[in-house]
Amino acid sequence: MMAPTAASTPDEGRPHGCHRAAARGPQDRREAVQTGFEKTSDGDRAERRRIADEVIEELTVHAWVEEKFFYPAARELAPDTTDHILESIEEHHAVVWMLSEIKDMDPGDERFKAKMSVLMEQVRHHVEEEEQDWFPEVRKAMGRNRLTELGGELEAGKKRAPRDPLAVPSSDST
Ligand SMILES: [Fe+2]
Repeated sequence: MMAPTAASTPDEGRPHGCHRAAARGPQDRREAVQTGFEKTSDGDRAERRRIADEVIEELTVHAWVEEKFFYPAARELAPDTTDHILESIEEHHAVVWMLSEIKDMDPGDERFKAKMSVLMEQVRHHVEEEEQDWFPEVRKAMGRNRLTELGGELEAGKKRAPRDPLAVPSSDST
């Protein structure tokens, strides 16, 4: 389920590779959630727990690196997208709190699958809005060099990102 890292991407450094690097976060999240949801629908309890933990880690890491690196850079270089960024942060806030609940929930709980399903819907909505409404504008404003640099920051950030959903900055409501 883990996506290839920048280092293993053969076309890294070329223009479309750079753009893909900046877009990798949302794609990972969507795949993680879709796969996780499908598997948690049929798997046994232990399998549901394992998949849910993978989804939690994947989404936590991506939310953290986006908030630490991508959103601040976007805000600086494409200030017109600020309202979209602020909305994205509020969507992250809802998602990380759901992740924190799923983290502590018994996979045999009757609410488990429903919660995973709503999580998937929310992440799908979030990813679609980002990809359609404002990521293209940010990529254009950043240009190739900054995108390449940012792709490196995102990959490096993933290694030191927290695994606790409530350690993501947007979990804080203040
Ligand atoms: Fe996001």
